[in-house]
Amino acid sequence: MTPAPILRGKRLLLGVTGSIAAYKAADLASKLAQAGAHVDVILTESATKFIAPLTFQSVTGRKAHTDLWGDDAHVIHVGLGESAELLVIAPATADAIAKMAHGLANDLLTLTALAARCPILVAPAMDGGMFEHSATQANLRTLIERDVTVIGPAEGRMASGLMGKGRMVEPNELLGHIRLALGRGGPLAGRRVVVTAGGTQEALDPVRFISNHSSGKQGYAIAQAALDRGAEVTLIAGPNSLPPVVGAVAVNVRSAAEMAEAVLKACADADALIMAAAVADFKPESESEQKIKRGASNGYDLRLTKTVDILMAVAEQKERTGKPTLTVGFAAETQSLIENAREKVFKKKLSLIVANDVSAADAGFFVDTNRVTIVDAGGGASELPLMSKAEVAESVCERIERLLKSKGW
Ligand code: CTP
Repeated sequence: MTPAPILRGKRLLLGVTGSIAAYKAADLASKLAQAGAHVDVILTESATKFIAPLTFQSVTGRKAHTDLWGDDAHVIHVGLGESAELLVIAPATADAIAKMAHGLANDLLTLTALAARCPILVAPAMDGGMFEHSATQANLRTLIERDVTVIGPAEGRMASGLMGKGRMVEPNELLGHIRLALGRGGPLAGRRVVVTAGGTQEALDPVRFISNHSSGKQGYAIAQAALDRGAEVTLIAGPNSLPPVVGAVAVNVRSAAEMAEAVLKACADADALIMAAAVADFKPESESEQKIKRGASNGYDLRLTKTVDILMAVAEQKERTGKPTLTVGFAAETQSLIENAREKVFKKKLSLIVANDVSAADAGFFVDTNRVTIVDAGGGASELPLMSKAEVAESVCERIERLLKSKGW
């Protein structure tokens, strides 16, 4: 995982209780540490039967705590609880949840949870019957009433071999919730941001379509960066294989026409639109209701018509309604990058355009890196070095944040 500013240097506490899902907590701790967080881990005694403290020490580079009185500091729970910015208990057994709900504090983890003044996330893991039991449900309700965020559990196969609801959610999804919790109150808090991502598909018949190579990665990274800054994010995406962005309202579309409809609707009260999608410029003039047969013909003539230019439609809507306040376009070019980007920024009435040379080997569709130049409404260009798509997303969100602030919007 690439370092993420939202996690870099953050003091996180990870509580691990006695469930087979404890092995997933090691993966989560590793991901958090790789992203630059300081992760202090507390294991309950039963957790140590499933996984060794040394595993966590190895991935976090910090001491993993197990015992209340054996540590150097005699009030370690107060120290850990007060310095943490977030306490995550994953996996949380029915027993740990019950103890927390009733304010019991008979081990280091429950003591720390009582002493903690930071937000708490809990990821339950237990057998389906235990989760559904009215005692567990009542305990979870109590925690939710106290502003604890409960994530999951997920449905699936459990350690008992039974199917049901009780599995701990996967580390990547937990990571998304952790980012969401840390981003709350960030510089874009209260801002509504609409992001588009991926390519559109223009149907030829029920089995075929015209599309492009867009992976959606850049748009998804922008949605995540905006969420990290506390924004309310709507992510309108064409078909892709990326995991959902936790916390974003997902609107899945197929064609340019569907994307246009979703964008215009979402922009009605948006502060910013970031149009990272690779919208198809042309679509088949007509869509065949039945599969087009190969038949005896030697070829097939395809007539294409233009799709709606979504950014032009947004500019028209903005003239009437004033929304979205800011519009950011992307320009995928294979030649004359800056000139073409300047032309598009004026024509589409954009606040900024992010231009990238998609013919470069280290930028564009198939890679995790991008090399972009940001052109502003006045035509001023700033060239950014080769970066990961996550870093490009950070730069774009920083520019949006600065623009909104400097214009007093
Ligand atoms: N875009 C759009 N609607 C379309 C096509 C593109 O809103 N039908 C948006 C893209 O999402 C991007 C910007 O317009 O933010 C520029 O897209 P690009 O494909 O680079 O430019 P085009 O307008 O399609 O112009 P050209 O094909 O001539 O380069």
